Amino acid sequence: MNILVIHGPNLHLLGKRKKEIYGKTTLKELNKILNDFASKNKINLKIFQSNSEGEIIDIITKNMKWANFIIINPAAYTHYSYAIRDCIEAVEIPTIEVHLSNIMKRENFRKKSVIKDVCIKQIYGKGIDSYIEAINFCINLNEK
Ligand code: DQA
Repeated sequence: MNILVIHGPNLHLLGKRKKEIYGKTTLKELNKILNDFASKNKINLKIFQSNSEGEIIDIITKNMKWANFIIINPAAYTHYSYAIRDCIEAVEIPTIEVHLSNIMKRENFRKKSVIKDVCIKQIYGKGIDSYIEAINFCINLNEK
């Protein structure tokens, strides 16, 4: 099973940025946790971080033949990127939207996801476990 993991804008600042909301784990540490978990479960991961909308679309389309699933934290793009939404819809790869923080309990603008309706699941508010839960969700789907 091949899973494409995409971290959106500002997630390269994890560990420095608003630790009370996003935690102390850096992106490098998070990626190591994900890679270790994936290799224990015999899953191939490709992980990218990008601060740009067009680049995220390029990453998705370049990997569309490879990926069986996409796990994406679109970060702020969650709330307004119809371009990323349309790309996910176009490639028809089962996609899980994840967030570290509880987007339902923060500013009003974060409650709205324009990505959600093209995803098979949305997971939020569990810190880095949001990503682990997403991988487990893919494993369970793949076994069915
Ligand atoms: C986030 C939540 C978004 O609202 C925010 O813009 C982010 C991170 C999260 O993981 O909690 O950058 O996606």
